[in-house]
Amino acid sequence: MENFVPEETIEEIRQHFDLVEVISNYTALKKTGRNYMGLCPFHSEKTASFTVSAEKQLYHCFGCGAGGNLFTFVMSVENLNFREAVTLLAERAGISLPEKPLSSGEKQFKALKEELLEINEVSMKFFSGALFSRKYGSEALNYLRKRELNDSTLKKFGIGYALSFGDSLYRFLKKQGFSEDKMEKAGLIIPSSRGSGYYDRFRNRIMFPIFNQQNQVVGFGGRILDQSQPKYLNSPETPIYNKRKILYALNFSRYYIREKDEAVIFEGYTDVITAYQEGLKNCAASLGTSLTEEQAEALRRNTSTVVIAYDSDTAGEAAAWRGMDILTKAGCRVKVAELPESMDPDEFIKKKGIRAFEKEIIEKSLPLIDYKLQKIQRDIGVTSFNNPEEKLLYIRKIMPVLAQIDNRVELDVYLQKVSSQIEVQVSSLKLELRKVRDTKGKPGSFRQKKTDDAAGKEFVLPAAEKELLAMMLKYPQYTGEVKKWLKNTDFSYAPFRKIVDKLYEAADQGKTYTEADVSNLFTGLEEQRIAAALILEEEKNPDSREKIIKDCIKKVKCSQLSSKRREIEKEISQLDKQQDGEKIKELLVEWSELKRLEKEFLL
Ligand code: GTP
Ligand code: MN
Repeated sequence: MENFVPEETIEEIRQHFDLVEVISNYTALKKTGRNYMGLCPFHSEKTASFTVSAEKQLYHCFGCGAGGNLFTFVMSVENLNFREAVTLLAERAGISLPEKPLSSGEKQFKALKEELLEINEVSMKFFSGALFSRKYGSEALNYLRKRELNDSTLKKFGIGYALSFGDSLYRFLKKQGFSEDKMEKAGLIIPSSRGSGYYDRFRNRIMFPIFNQQNQVVGFGGRILDQSQPKYLNSPETPIYNKRKILYALNFSRYYIREKDEAVIFEGYTDVITAYQEGLKNCAASLGTSLTEEQAEALRRNTSTVVIAYDSDTAGEAAAWRGMDILTKAGCRVKVAELPESMDPDEFIKKKGIRAFEKEIIEKSLPLIDYKLQKIQRDIGVTSFNNPEEKLLYIRKIMPVLAQIDNRVELDVYLQKVSSQIEVQVSSLKLELRKVRDTKGKPGSFRQKKTDDAAGKEFVLPAAEKELLAMMLKYPQYTGEVKKWLKNTDFSYAPFRKIVDKLYEAADQGKTYTEADVSNLFTGLEEQRIAAALILEEEKNPDSREKIIKDCIKKVKCSQLSSKRREIEKEISQLDKQQDGEKIKELLVEWSELKRLEKEFLL
């Protein structure tokens, strides 16, 4: 590995963490046999093919080929380089590293972000202080009490109140020593349009701090107390607040979402807070109707099922549907909960209680496709399909929905359903579907494409080479035998050669290793990936290891000899018998020698 940190430190960090625990923060894992299985955090899938070995501290996805150890996992999932991953893990483990030299630009940006976080933290406390102050906060506090939020909820969510004076926060922050420039960058103050001075962005509003996954305040949402507009004012995008990436309250609910393997997504702050207070804790809010890819990914890493519980009027909006499609694309099973006409979850829970909400709303939520079909039918306003025109209209409207289903069995199920519902043959529906697909492109394009070239390649890589590598990775005692017969260049795939290189080197130096630490020998991600895959692959060959190794060495040698032989055959066929008689004779001698060696090896 790179040596910006001593190897012992790297090992110390590795030992500090349990890979199963680390990975559990990103995808739900279940113990199956000796290993843990879950949905792969690196590609969209609906059945688990991602394996983690606690013993070997390695992971491997049989679907997309991703794999490696603690460091490669953190690198891939957090999109970091090795150095950054080590730094992050060291920090979490409380292991000190030699200071990483930052460029002056990076230093400045880091300092800016830290200061903005501090300003937000201080402001949250200021708002909270105001809410609970008798002098200023009683109206706001009354409002929240009327909405049945209790004090411990208000404290937990850091809820506060922005005073109605023009610049109270500004003056407070200034007294604390923060500069106008930074307060403005945090989105908390706005320069006055009348020449000099500043005023607070949020005035006379209930303040909801927005937290990131590290429980840091990155922004605020401010709700007006009366009916005036806008109802909500939110922080602008800042160096620490990117609203595409944040789900409100996910920092609090992540644990419960993973535990239940289900997330309930609301529209508003108040829905989440009420649900959480009443005991439905696996929830978050999208703060707007359309979920982004980043939010979908964040959910996908924590759960396989997402229940959308928007206000009854917004769930059917195009933007909401787009968000649900994004969730599906990210690999989540999406269900849609339906609320009674013009009611939001917050109201429902208050009126009927959380048990009723769970029983009548969440448990009755429909799979996304069913929901869409039902919604379309309702929009057209038909209850039975006696009229051919209505049938046609319905078919036309549902085809784009069906065209998005990329699982054949699932599609069949829905075609059957629609067929019996409107009494039209499945074959006719299929014809219609084909028309839509031909114009809109196959749903295959819907799926995430395999970008990892080598993952695909591995399937055609010589099996014997793979098997030898696996043996050497798992049982260092056999490396010497392989080395006797095969040169590193006898392996046909470059990353294999790199691995072999390191293994031979280790054998020469008498270094031993175990399955759990062999990956420390490799520097590249690709080598780590391959090593993890080979180590975690089940041993299916019933022969003794000695026999496997012998056979594989033979196969590698033979395939080499025969490919050389074929090259010679090609060369001979291209030569002119008349002119190149001598050359051909030479080649023939070589050819028969190769043939003889091949036979010998095969014995
Ligand atoms: P209550 O009406 O107090 O129950 O609030 P709510 O959180 O349920 O709000 P609502 O259902 O009206 O809206 C859902 C979410 O959309 C809110 O939580 C806000 O994030 C956002 N939102 C609503 N109104 C506005 C607005 O006027 N401006 C902005 N920027 N966002 C809004
Ligand atoms: Mn609402």
